[in-house]
Amino acid sequence: MEKKEIVQLLDDMSMEEKIGQLLQLTGSYFMDDAVLTGPEAEIGVTDQEIALCGSVLSIHGASDLMKIQDKIMKSQPHHIPALFMLDVIHGFRTVFPVPIAQGCTFNPELVKEGASISAKETAVSGVHITFSPMSDLCRDARWGRVMEGTGEDKYLNGIYTKAMVEGYQGDDIKKPYKVGACVKHFAAYGLPEAGREYNAVEVSNRTLFEDYLPAYEEGVKAGAVSVMTSFNTLDRIPSTANCKLMRDVLRNKMGFDGVLISDYGAVMELVNHGIAEDAKEAAKLAIKAGVDIEMMSRSYVSELKGLIEQGEVDQKLLDEAVMRVLILKNKLGLFEKPYKDASVEGEKEVILCKEHREAARKCAEESLVLLENDGILPLHTQGQHIAFIGPYADNKELFGAWALMADGNDANALSEIVPALYPNNGYTFEHACNIVPKDSLLSGLASTLETKYNDQEEALAMDRAVEKAAAADVVVLMLGEHRLQTGEAAAVGDIILPKKQLELLDKIARVNQNIVTVLFNGRPLDLREIKEKSKAVLEAWFPGTEGAYAVMDALFGKVNPSGRLSMSFPYSVGQVPVHYDEFATGRPKGEEGEQNKFCSRYEDIPNAPLYPFGYGLSYSEFSYSDRCLSKQKLNGSKNEDTIEARVTVTNQSEVPGMEVVQLYIQDVKGSVVRPKRELKGFKKIFLKPQESKTIIFTITEKMLRFYDIDMEFKSEPGEFRIYIGHDSLETHAMAFHLVKE
Ligand code: BGC
Repeated sequence: MEKKEIVQLLDDMSMEEKIGQLLQLTGSYFMDDAVLTGPEAEIGVTDQEIALCGSVLSIHGASDLMKIQDKIMKSQPHHIPALFMLDVIHGFRTVFPVPIAQGCTFNPELVKEGASISAKETAVSGVHITFSPMSDLCRDARWGRVMEGTGEDKYLNGIYTKAMVEGYQGDDIKKPYKVGACVKHFAAYGLPEAGREYNAVEVSNRTLFEDYLPAYEEGVKAGAVSVMTSFNTLDRIPSTANCKLMRDVLRNKMGFDGVLISDYGAVMELVNHGIAEDAKEAAKLAIKAGVDIEMMSRSYVSELKGLIEQGEVDQKLLDEAVMRVLILKNKLGLFEKPYKDASVEGEKEVILCKEHREAARKCAEESLVLLENDGILPLHTQGQHIAFIGPYADNKELFGAWALMADGNDANALSEIVPALYPNNGYTFEHACNIVPKDSLLSGLASTLETKYNDQEEALAMDRAVEKAAAADVVVLMLGEHRLQTGEAAAVGDIILPKKQLELLDKIARVNQNIVTVLFNGRPLDLREIKEKSKAVLEAWFPGTEGAYAVMDALFGKVNPSGRLSMSFPYSVGQVPVHYDEFATGRPKGEEGEQNKFCSRYEDIPNAPLYPFGYGLSYSEFSYSDRCLSKQKLNGSKNEDTIEARVTVTNQSEVPGMEVVQLYIQDVKGSVVRPKRELKGFKKIFLKPQESKTIIFTITEKMLRFYDIDMEFKSEPGEFRIYIGHDSLETHAMAFHLVKE
């Protein structure tokens, strides 16, 4: 449609029709046989409102969606097609590793490919927009949603956000197999106080702008067609009513011109927050803040008309919001092709096809992080007796939270594939215990927890596991969180594995010390006990549909682990939030062993996390040499001036492998306190045995900018240090000066 036709359409629409375009309801309202329960029933939406509703969430399937599209278009006076949106967070039916695991690949190309594949499967199922990427910076492992983000680093999160937006959208969302992206949750949702879900966010303006906003901005710059408001408050203002944040920052400063959608029910939650008296005030605050679509509450449809008629809301605000929704529909080509790519044939052809599975497997392989290894890994491919023990040894469900379309039948458990693919060992398998106890605290979700054993059966299974462990050369313990322990509404006060699994570890360690622990989880955990009792630890996260293959091949050495942590693993929960780019304090802690009470330290635990950002082992051995800078002075007044930082990386082993070469920069002195170091670049390289490669990073003045004392984003002359190495602990420093001449 031409722009002028959209303007004409808007002009022709009644006020009710317009407001209807701003309502988003779940698919249940449109299914013939659906029974509404819970919040869906409580909203109290009328038939007339359903008939005029402009967008639908949480529904998929070409056949259903085509029917629903027909129904909606028929019920609309101007036959406007609906937008279908869905949470496709880490894959549609071909499930990729959870985003935090994808973060550990340090391979944005792979992440982009994953997004593009997810888009394809999503598009053929009739959906137009995915509620992804989640660009929230996460530093608190207690928060359940850290699994949905790519980690603790602003630079890395920005790169992944861009990769995902480009993967989903391509260069034009109208094209086949492309869907729109929705960057969320704007803003700073990853910083709920004390890690508790939906809690308030307190953050300084400087930290907000410097650390928390850049990743969303990368999404906007990459052309994301929508953004979602966050549930939290920021500066005590709920985002959904935060005019400054949405209009000044998101729209004016970042240049976002797409559709802003509230999170689920968030407009009416303004009443719970205590800043709106009722639906009327909530609607007024949200529309003024610039929220275009109200997801799953009906304050707009019930109140906007009255507000406009009473002169409390300018009609212009309504028209602008509706215009943005219509433009988005037009960008997707829905006026000409209301089903877009929905196709039952397409679903059969595309979903879970070989190419998609291969990409998911590759992504899973690269997301594995080897945390410990005393040489026990890789396992021998013959002549060993190996016991695979634990609730993930025979579990196909390696999907994690937010894998709404996942189906266990599409995947394999390790127990099903290992004996056939590595047939020259002896194997035993034992589930050993439930992932979580039947009566665990997962509020409201307890009924959906699959627990295999009752108490008596579990005791017997534990005994069997110990027997099998005692008889084996090596025990591979496959432990982890339940998928419902991470994701939304899954905050925890402690970050340890379920107690039964730790008991299992303890029992096994008493009979066999050759323990390799493989972990399936969605957040950094306190791994002290696991580290102590295992000879190797492989962090597998929730690796998705092809996860079992990836883990198996890593255990047997066909895959060389190359993932690096994109989020620090705290020593214990008391450290959180812990992140590598912390600030210098006035009383820094000295070297380990130095006794000084009055410095920035804990009395009972170390300052350093158990495993730092960027960390991860390999079966290869890499060395760094010949580090040098092309010069020691960078002239910040000349735009084109650069310094080359070089390093030679050598694979000193006989095992081919991938290394993530990481570049960190420290601004030694600033007008405000600067982080100890910041990631400014990385390169993932493959090295054959004994091969060397020279890596060059180009340093520019732009990389050195920050919000100075006057909140201006610029660099300051002075000394900078450069660390190029294997992880964020690299100590070898090179120095240069930024001058402005
Ligand atoms: C979540 C969003 C999600 C939305 C729609 C909300 O509860 O916070 O991330 O996109 O539901 O399912």
